[in-house]
Amino acid sequence: MVMLTLGILGSGAGSNMQAILDAITGGTLSARIGIVLCDNPEALILERARRQGIRAEVIDCAGHRMKFTEEAQQETARKLNEAGVDMVCLAGFMRLVKRPLLDAFPDRILNIHPSLLPAFPGLEAWRQAVEAGVSESGVTVHLVDAGMDTGQILGQEKVMVFADDTPETLHSRLQVAEHRLYPETIARYASRLNL
Ligand code: GRF
Repeated sequence: MVMLTLGILGSGAGSNMQAILDAITGGTLSARIGIVLCDNPEALILERARRQGIRAEVIDCAGHRMKFTEEAQQETARKLNEAGVDMVCLAGFMRLVKRPLLDAFPDRILNIHPSLLPAFPGLEAWRQAVEAGVSESGVTVHLVDAGMDTGQILGQEKVMVFADDTPETLHSRLQVAEHRLYPETIARYASRLNL
């Protein structure tokens, strides 16, 4: 049986990568993680992946703090293809993906975002929700397009916001929902694409 191979792009702790891996181990997501790529050599996601026997490499962003240069995107696409990746999952990846990476994986790049999009796109959506005083937020899995958190929505889960929530308490509850929604949505989308 040919198995769905995922490539994960992250910048941080890698808890969503772990949730995807747990779903694979637990048998609810029929896939393997072929490669983890990260733009921050210090990020925990790299160590976490390597400890569990997953190929994990740093993307060289040539000293740019936020920019995902064309060369870096080409190199990323090359490594993903080399690892046999069918679907790319952004998991806390802090750079905006554009061409040429989008063109290398059309409709095959997913992202998890900590709000009910289209509300609160961009950075620190949990802080935006607390500051806006909303009583409900949530998490979204969407396809990545050239905009910021604008691609087609594949799945959402609501999370209540309490009056005494801080950005940090809300973020930790949002992450619990992310860890449930992301693997579930990957499985559903992969079966829709017959992968
Ligand atoms: C998640 O909350 C994700 O929604 C946001 O960054 C965080 C990454 O966490 N974009 P992790 O690296 O998966 O633990």
